[in-house]
Amino acid sequence: MSTLAVGIDIGGTGIKGALVDVSAGELASERVKVPTPEGGDPDAVLDAVAEMVDGLGEEASGLPVGVCFPAIVRHGRTLSAANVSDRWIGLEAEALFEKKLGRGIHFVNDADAAGVAEVRFGAARDTDGLVIMTTLGTGIGSAFLHDGVLIPNSELGHLEIDGTDAEHRASYAAKEREELDWPDWAARLQRFYGHVEYLFSPELLIVGGGVSKHHEEFLPLLDIQTPIVPAVLRNNAGILGAAWLAARH
Ligand code: BGC
Repeated sequence: MSTLAVGIDIGGTGIKGALVDVSAGELASERVKVPTPEGGDPDAVLDAVAEMVDGLGEEASGLPVGVCFPAIVRHGRTLSAANVSDRWIGLEAEALFEKKLGRGIHFVNDADAAGVAEVRFGAARDTDGLVIMTTLGTGIGSAFLHDGVLIPNSELGHLEIDGTDAEHRASYAAKEREELDWPDWAARLQRFYGHVEYLFSPELLIVGGGVSKHHEEFLPLLDIQTPIVPAVLRNNAGILGAAWLAARH
């Protein structure tokens, strides 16, 4: 396994990237960030990623690139678009990026990449059995990891609870949109995590996404049996996990 790889995290509002030391699980360069092109069109996003990879300099040239993205990704194709342009649905994203960047690309769901990073280098390093990573942001992302192995595309944000997508009521975006205070939002998270716990009986639940830095405001309000902990890699988890997967492939 090569030691260095590039990790790119494409989100609805920003694209972040860095050179990663995949043996240490650490960034090996400054993290760069650009806004996601208006509308999130695949061609414009691809141009922005190519420019970002170039900008990482000589050291990044020819290295494998891992790209994580907020959609179902199967065999390099993006198959959904919950919070991004519909033009990604059915797109051969991995092949498109390989052609443009002239090297091996590994495309992966954003929460799956973050989960891989938390299991390798973060909050779930010492946990066997089923670990469920969740990310609370614009949507709710999820990753299943069993004995450290990723079971991809779990999409728990779209679990139907009380007749609606879980992420519609319990994402961080829902908290913002509806101006929910911590206890009101925690009540919605309780419905979500309580249901997930009942369905899957995981050993550990991890909570990521930007809001996880405020975990003391809402995690103690949850009443579940499963240990539930904040992610430790925070904003870098997607980059680290995507790079690790790219290096491994
Ligand atoms: C998408 C997932 C993604 C999550 C977090 C959801 O709306 O369906 O694929 O992982 O948002 O970005």
